[in-house]
Amino acid sequence: MAIDGPLQGKNILVTGASSGLGRALVKEGARRGNQVFAAARSMDKLRNLAHEVGESGGQGRLTPIEADVRDPASIQNLFALIDQMVLKVDVVINNAAVGHNSSIGEITDEEATQIVSTNLLGTIMITREAIKRMIPHGSGQIAFISSLAGKLAFPNLAVYSATKFGVEGFAEAAREELGATGIGVTLIRPGIMDTNFFKTAGMGDFARNMKNKMQTPEDVARQALEAIERNKSEITIGSDKRFLPFLKHFPRSIARKLLPYIT
Ligand SMILES: NC(=O)c1ccc[n+]([C@@H]2O[C@H](COP(=O)([O-])OP(=O)(O)OC[C@H]3O[C@@H](n4cnc5c(N)ncnc54)[C@H](OP(=O)(O)O)[C@@H]3O)[C@@H](O)[C@H]2O)c1
Repeated sequence: MAIDGPLQGKNILVTGASSGLGRALVKEGARRGNQVFAAARSMDKLRNLAHEVGESGGQGRLTPIEADVRDPASIQNLFALIDQMVLKVDVVINNAAVGHNSSIGEITDEEATQIVSTNLLGTIMITREAIKRMIPHGSGQIAFISSLAGKLAFPNLAVYSATKFGVEGFAEAAREELGATGIGVTLIRPGIMDTNFFKTAGMGDFARNMKNKMQTPEDVARQALEAIERNKSEITIGSDKRFLPFLKHFPRSIARKLLPYIT
């Protein structure tokens, strides 16, 4: 059966754990007494995080693992290392993602490939490896970090939006496909958060303008973990969540204009 109970004493894998929401998920997961495997490319940041979690005196443990979700060999290595350490992964949180502020006409092959291979193909490969290990146990929980951009596409973030629409579709199919296996699926759709995401995506000005409307990744991480432990099928986190269902009924051009006022 899916987790559906307190998130304590579980083995949790978080991708994209070196900054922002992933970092907050790892810290909150460890604080609640879980063994957390923190995966990202920046090993130095993960080691610092492990040190911080160790110093905090909580009951949980953090194991940093260098992994690039775009690289199939790196994903195999990630799961091989986890297999050596624990009998079973209980929860996998697909969080790693990148964006890039660019019009469709100007985005380079390299930029588009990086976004699709990190956000979508990485999520697909991580999920496949996770469920292969969960199915024999008849339990587990897969979480997907989507975005409002997975429901309402944004200009100059077309490729990012396409990958988040893809993540939503993949999660929906996974929920149906895994229904009989005992593995739960939780789709998490955060509103705008104060992380490095916008700077990395070349949207520093946007982030500065929106600063006072942003949620902290720590708040989002707490709500995300609660949704996972309750086996909720999906959750939108942010003050806009009440409005999102209505936005879908507006013409997209108007919905996009309204979005900054309700986030
Ligand atoms: N910030 C927002 O307003 C917002 C809103 C809605 C949804 N989200 C979603 O929230 C999630 C977390 O984003 P964030 O805001 O926390 O951004 P962030 O601070 O930029 O963190 C992104 C993380 O992804 C990792 N990553 C990037 N490429 C990777 C790769 N190839 N392999 C492994 N890890 C990789 C980065 O670590 P390394 O560079 O060390 O690999 C970093 O830890 C994403 O799914 C994003 O789409 C964000």
